[in-house]
Amino acid sequence: MAYQWDSSLETGHEKIDNQHKQLIAALNSIIDASRNGKGSEEIFKTLDFLTGYTIMHFTDEEKLQEKYDYPDYLVHKRYHNDFKVTVGKLTERLREEGPTEDMVNTVTSAVGDWLLNHIKGDDFRMATYIKFKQKEEDAS
Ligand SMILES: [Fe+2]
Ligand SMILES: [Fe+2]
Repeated sequence: MAYQWDSSLETGHEKIDNQHKQLIAALNSIIDASRNGKGSEEIFKTLDFLTGYTIMHFTDEEKLQEKYDYPDYLVHKRYHNDFKVTVGKLTERLREEGPTEDMVNTVTSAVGDWLLNHIKGDDFRMATYIKFKQKEEDAS
């Protein structure tokens, strides 16, 4: 199943939303590469891109939270860290077992489900807070 962006994923924070769109696009590239029978090299290339982009995105979110003293910063950061570990393990399994369509589906569903869930809950709450703080800052 490919993932689609829709308004339920919108946090209203432009930078965060744009990065989330990129994450979903990267996830879909892996699904497409696998479905179109692209070789392992292409699949791992798209997966490496997603991993790198995810790490960059998490760092950006954490910096924003630190800057604006987000009360749930430590919890949010722990979710990110746990997810990075999960992605690392899944990638390792994919390398060991080879990127069969089944394995790619397992990995992309696990990543996609986590991301969508995280965006709609934790990120939405965080972005609402950051937006409020940024407006306050602009007004002062
Ligand atoms: Fe996010
Ligand atoms: Fe997040």
